[in-house]
Amino acid sequence: KKSIDELVDVDVEGVVAREIFVDDELFEQELEHVFGRAWLFVGHVGLVPEPNDYFQSRMGTDPVILTRDKAGEIHVLLNTCTHRGMKLCRSDQGNTRTFTCPYHGWSFSTDGRLVDRPGELYNVPGYDTHYHSELDKKKWGLISVPRVEIYKGTVWASWDEEAPPLLDYLGDMRLYLDYALDYRDGRPGGAEVIGGVQKWRVQANWKMIPENFIGDLYHDVSHRSVDAVGIGPSGKGRRDSFGNRITLCFPEHGHGVIGQLPFHEEYDGVSGNWGENPEVQEYYRKVHESRVERLGDDMRVAMSVGTIFPSMSFHGRQPRTIAWVHPISATETEMWRIFLVDEDAPEVVKDEARRYYMRYSGPGGLTESDDMENWAYATRASKGWRSRQLFFNYQMGLGHARPVPELDNAVENGEFNEENARAFYRRWAQFMKASSWKEIPMPESEHTR
Ligand code: FES
Repeated sequence: KKSIDELVDVDVEGVVAREIFVDDELFEQELEHVFGRAWLFVGHVGLVPEPNDYFQSRMGTDPVILTRDKAGEIHVLLNTCTHRGMKLCRSDQGNTRTFTCPYHGWSFSTDGRLVDRPGELYNVPGYDTHYHSELDKKKWGLISVPRVEIYKGTVWASWDEEAPPLLDYLGDMRLYLDYALDYRDGRPGGAEVIGGVQKWRVQANWKMIPENFIGDLYHDVSHRSVDAVGIGPSGKGRRDSFGNRITLCFPEHGHGVIGQLPFHEEYDGVSGNWGENPEVQEYYRKVHESRVERLGDDMRVAMSVGTIFPSMSFHGRQPRTIAWVHPISATETEMWRIFLVDEDAPEVVKDEARRYYMRYSGPGGLTESDDMENWAYATRASKGWRSRQLFFNYQMGLGHARPVPELDNAVENGEFNEENARAFYRRWAQFMKASSWKEIPMPESEHTR
């Protein structure tokens, strides 16, 4: 059996063993070492806007419920009844005063407490008679995820009490996440989730998906048909992300983005490139100007898409979307996507965004379906007895990374390279080898102190 260092050798040979994409034992280890420790994106506050709203999410293979309790506080609760394990909440999202277990009727409030209202229907049935009033209800509430942080509307959770603060975990990648969350004018909460959550399954290992979003510009060829028919935002016969692209990497965190240089509206893919409707174009032009004014030269890259290790990817310019993955098995993954618009944008802008999202992203969108085929066939063609003994090649640009002076802990490596993927798997190996958070290296970032 190979060690983690033999499976992931991104710095000398530039290779990663196919086994980590198909092996069941490694998958089980990932659930504990990666998904049991990392900060995981679990949803957006816009999915639970009112008291007692809930949204069913996942952390690794564990189902969780993101709730807003009746006092307005956000919680992330393990979605399993503490009595005999029944999956408590089975609706995707909604509003409820209590989650009542369908098996024997225990009821839990939206903050996770086992409801303590003796004599009422929504309580522990038979509390006085069958349990002789001896059940310690305080002990048998739902399991709360111990670490929950909200960043500009995004909700993050970690099972590990020792995990560093979320902002340290994000490092300077936070600046790029801001593109998705603060696009309009930097106002927290300025984003609205439009059109619900798209969910679908891919017969592929989960890592292939964030790896694709972290910096794989080399796969443009996959989308050639999309470019040929011209279904990008502008409909001008090519997707609107060409010109001076670079990948930018935070190797010590395992995060990375694809961006464009220089930071200029010509390359922004928004102003002047967004459809034919002058009202929509004007709106995005103003948005763009306000962003330049607000962010100035700090952001030398207008980012388009990126990944926060391990499982959350996002598009930072319009269209703004968050795509995150939930592992099901070594060779199956559930992928979710939400779409963000400025909450006070004119209806015509929202409508344009909605149509663009349907056309371009998600399981029915043209680019996503291209990618899904790649991931599924690559997984299937790596599962066999012989093929699983091979390695994937990540040698592109190895040894050619340059520091980015304006950013802490960042490197760039031009347009076509596998720097970001190497960082992703290096980070994966660090998590897999560590026996606790204390053994996972964390850089200090002056932006987060
Ligand atoms: Fe939930 Fe018994 S399993 S009340």
